[in-house]
Parts: sequence; C-alpha cells; structure tokens
Amino acid sequence: MPEELRFERFDKTRHKRELFDCGEPGLNEYLKTRLNQQMKRGVTVGYVLATKTGRIAGYVTLSNGELPIGVIPEGQGFPVKLPLPSTLIGRLAVDRAFQGHGFGGDLLVHALRVAVETAEQVASAVIEVDALDDRARRFYEHYGFARLPDDELHLYMPMADAQALVRKVFGSKG
Ligand SMILES: CC(C)(COP(=O)(O)OP(=O)(O)OC[C@H]1O[C@@H](n2cnc3c(N)ncnc32)[C@H](O)[C@@H]1OP(=O)(O)O)[C@@H](O)C(=O)NCCC(=O)NCCS
Repeated sequence: MPEELRFERFDKTRHKRELFDCGEPGLNEYLKTRLNQQMKRGVTVGYVLATKTGRIAGYVTLSNGELPIGVIPEGQGFPVKLPLPSTLIGRLAVDRAFQGHGFGGDLLVHALRVAVETAEQVASAVIEVDALDDRARRFYEHYGFARLPDDELHLYMPMADAQALVRKVFGSKG
C-alpha cells in the first residue's frame, strides 16, 4: 500500500505529471501537456490523488456541460423541453502502479463530492461522462451511471443520486 494519498487541485509545480502512466497514451499526454493550459484558460479543473511528495496516483477533470434537448430520457422528473445543465467528468485515469486498489473509485467519489457541492451554488442536474471504451463504461456503471440514448459510451448520473452516494461515502458532511 502506498503512502497516504490526498485529493488536491492539480498544480504542475507540486505534482509530478511526467511520471504518470495509466496505460492509455492519450490520457497520459493530456495530463502532461494539456491539463495545465486548459486550467489556465478556464476550460476545465483537474484534481489529483497524490502522495505528499507529489506522485500522482490518478487524476480527474471537471467542467460545466449541457445535455441538449431530447438526450435525457423522459419520465425521470427532468425538464425535457430545455437543455439540462450538467457537470462533465472529462477524463479520469489511475496510474498502472495504483490500479485495482480502489483509487479509481476514490477519485470518482471525490469528483462527485465536488460536483454535488458546486451544484448547491450553480445549478447542475446531472453528472455526465463519455467513457473511453466498454471497460471504462463498466467502471462507471459499477457506481450507478446509466447510459444515455445518443451514444452507448455517454453516461449520466442524476445529481440527487450523486448526493446520496457522497453522503454514503463521506457521511452527513458530504
Ligand atoms: C478505469 C480505471 C480508472 C479504474 O481505476 P482502478 O483504480 O483500477 O479501479 P478501482 O480499484 O478503484 O475499482 C473500484 C471498483 O470499480 C470496479 N471496477 C474497476 N474497473 C472496472 C471495470 N472496468 N468494470 C467494472 N467494474 C470495475 C472494481 O471492481 C471496484 O469494485 P469494488 O469497489 O466493488 O471492489 C483505471 O483502470 C484506469 O485508469 N484505466 C485506464 C484509463 C481509463 O480507461 N480511464 C477511464 C476514462 S473514461
């Protein structure tokens, strides 16, 4: 078991992005070359699970999104004649050396906590994610994400469900 990991906003001066390898070259490159730029430009915010010395076990990105009219299935209490404000999980990856120890799940529930807390101030009805492939889709489904009809890798979780999950994991402070 590695030393204690903390969930922190990504900071290129403290977090050793060059060592990161999740096995997916695109996700490695994104962390190394684009995340910092995108954060500076206000396009996304990246968070890492990192050791005290800055080794990155995993990262996740969050930004605002919007589900176009007609994407969310009817009959779930969402307005169907309006676009739906969403929180988008852009990317989520765990370094190969840390995979299979629950850190992907930790990263996800921390990201959901940020989404839930933010949605109390700025409305967001659902969390959405475009899974990389079927394996990643199953990871999200394991946590309760459901498929959207427009693309089999496009998934969502109602904010109320995210809130319940966060409460379960972090207690009432969640
Ligand atoms: C997918 C990924 C993030 C999972 O991270 P991880 O740290 O290995 O997963 P965890 O150990 O946290 O797994 C947590 C739970 O999810 C389950 N899980 C993990 N991957 C799963 C999968 N592909 N399908 C179904 N369940 C899965 C685990 O069994 C575990 O369940 P449990 O809590 O009931 O024991 C990681 O393998 C990864 O980074 N892969 C490469 C990049 C990638 O595909 N990212 C997805 C981007 S959309």
